[in-house]
Amino acid sequence: MNILELIQKRYTAKKYNPNKIIPQEKIEDLKEILRLTPSSINIQPWKFTFVQNTEIKAQLATASKHNQERVNQAQLIVVFSVADDLDAFQTVVENEFPQFRVDWYNQIKASMPESNLKVWLSNQVYIALGVGLTASAALGLDATPMEGIEPDKYQTILNMTTYKPLFAMAVGYGAEDDLNRLETTPKSRRTQESVIETI
Ligand SMILES: Cc1cc2nc3c(=O)[nH]c(=O)nc-3n(C[C@H](O)[C@H](O)[C@H](O)COP(=O)(O)O)c2cc1C
Repeated sequence: MNILELIQKRYTAKKYNPNKIIPQEKIEDLKEILRLTPSSINIQPWKFTFVQNTEIKAQLATASKHNQERVNQAQLIVVFSVADDLDAFQTVVENEFPQFRVDWYNQIKASMPESNLKVWLSNQVYIALGVGLTASAALGLDATPMEGIEPDKYQTILNMTTYKPLFAMAVGYGAEDDLNRLETTPKSRRTQESVIETI
């Protein structure tokens, strides 16, 4: 399948087959693919938490609004978090990056209010969601991007301090009777004329 066909075929799964197991090597590939996500100045201000443990998934499900059922059913939940404690993240930057990148980050940090910096950092994490959704499709897996979660509760359940959850992605095999499958719900998008300008 070429990349266009892949993108035409992927859809947001609303219902999962809880019995079909994801091969562990696909999960390992997904971890590495997310790690390789590009970001502005290569700042990588994220944590990707892979949750397969049924009990923890059940806890997350209670903090997942209308996504509760999917979080329980999907074999894997990936929680995407952004650096939130900026002092702690400063230490990460200083320990893990070469000096030129530390200087670059410090310049950006000094150039804007903290609230804008946090928006900028969060924007980088959304790039990983795009990568993760496309990668899931390429791995033959179905996925659900989910902003409909309670980040504060997720943060407590996952015991996080430096990072704060932004959204999650359920991954697994979609149920045959999922009404959001393309057979029942064809892809719906604005036209090329509306969204693409060619000059
Ligand atoms: C950032 C983001 C957050 C989303 N949050 C949810 C969600 O919480 N629950 C859900 O069922 N779908 C969610 N969606 C799925 C969108 O509704 C879906 O991508 C859109 O309607 C297009 O449909 P498609 O993905 O099937 O092509 C989200 C999508 C994105 C990109």
